[in-house]
Amino acid sequence: MTTALPRYSRISGTGSYLPPDRVSNADLAARLARDGIETSDEWIVERTGIRFRHFAAADVAVSDLALIASRRALEAADCDPGAIDLIIVATSTPDMVFPSVACILQAKLGIAGCAAFDVQAVCSGFVYALTVADSMIKTGSASKALVVGAEVFSRILDFKDRTTCVLFGDGAGAVVLEASETPGILATELHADGRYVDILCVPGHVSGGNVLGDPLLKMDGPAVFKLAVGVLESVARSVLEKAGRTGADIDWLIPHQANIRIMQSTAKKLKLAPSKLIATVDRHGNTSAASIPLALDESVRAGTIGRGDTVLLEGVGGGFTWGAALIDF
Ligand code: ACO
Repeated sequence: MTTALPRYSRISGTGSYLPPDRVSNADLAARLARDGIETSDEWIVERTGIRFRHFAAADVAVSDLALIASRRALEAADCDPGAIDLIIVATSTPDMVFPSVACILQAKLGIAGCAAFDVQAVCSGFVYALTVADSMIKTGSASKALVVGAEVFSRILDFKDRTTCVLFGDGAGAVVLEASETPGILATELHADGRYVDILCVPGHVSGGNVLGDPLLKMDGPAVFKLAVGVLESVARSVLEKAGRTGADIDWLIPHQANIRIMQSTAKKLKLAPSKLIATVDRHGNTSAASIPLALDESVRAGTIGRGDTVLLEGVGGGFTWGAALIDF
C-alpha cells in the first residue's frame, strides 16, 4: 500500500504592474485646488506616508493591469499559461458587473477550460484569494493556480472628498501558486465582521439600468484605523501559532499598504525590527487587493526577499475583512 505524500502549495513566481501615470501629492493637491479643496504634500505624508500613486488611463480596465502582472508572474515561474488550472482574481473594481475579471483574464491569456472566479474582500482580497487557492491545491482540486490582486480604485474615488481621494492608487500583482511536497504556505486565517459595512464602502449599485446610490468610496478613516491596528495584531499572532512559529521566525512583514502608521504599529506590536517591514505605500498609495502582491513582487525582484525567507502577509479592508498568510517563500 502506498501512502500519499502530503500536498502543500508554494509560490513559484511573482509579477506586478503599475500603470505609467505617476501622480505626486503636489499633482493631486493642484487638481483638488481647482475645485477649491485644500490639501498638501505635508499633510498626506505626515498622516499616511504616501508620496505617489499611479492612475490607470480611462481606457484601461483592471483586467489589462492583471494581464501584465500575470504574464510577469508566469514568466518568473517558468510556467506556460496553458498549464494553469485555476485563476482567482481579488478585486473590488471589476471591468463589468459580470462576468468575472478572472474569466476575462483567462481569455486574454489565451487559455480556456480551467476554473476562474473573482474574490471580493476589498483590501483583504489577495489574502482571501491565496487562502482559497492554497486550500484547492491541498485538496487536489488544482495544481497550478494564478492568484491575482488588481484594482483601479481611481474609478471609485470622490475627488471632492480630500479625506479619501489622496489615499488610493491603481495597480496589479500576481503569483503562481503550485502544488509542492514541501510547504510554502504554512498557515492562513480569514475573518470578517459585517457589522462594520458602513465604515468603508461604495454604496452604489446597478438597478433597472441605472446606478442607484452613491458609486464613490466612503470611509470613516479614524474608525478603520482603530479596527485595523487591533485585528492585524491578533490575526498575526494566531497564524504564527497555527504554524508553530513565533515572531522571531519572521524575516519580512508585508501588511496591506494602507497607511504607514498602521503598518509600523503592527510591526512594533509584533516586536519586529523596523527593517523587516516591507513598505511600498509611499510610492504606490493604497492599491487595495493589489497592494500585497505588488509589494511582494517588488521585494522579490529587488532581491530583498529570497527563497526560503519566512514572510507574513496581512490584509485588512472593507467588509470589515481581515486575514493573514504565513509563507516560506
Ligand atoms: N488634506 C488636508 N487635511 C485633511 C485631509 C487632506 N487630504 N484629509 C483630512 N484632513 C483634515 C480633516 O478635515 C481634519 O480636519 P479638522 O480637524 O479641521 O476636522 C483633520 O485633517 C484630521 O482628520 P482625521 O480624519 O482625524 O485625520 P487622521 O489623522 O485620522 O487621518 C486618515 C486620516 C489618513 C484617513 C487615517 O484615519 C487613516 O489612515 N485611516 C485608515 C484608512 C485606511 O487604512 N483605509 C484603507 C483601509 S483598507 C480598504 O479596504 C480600502
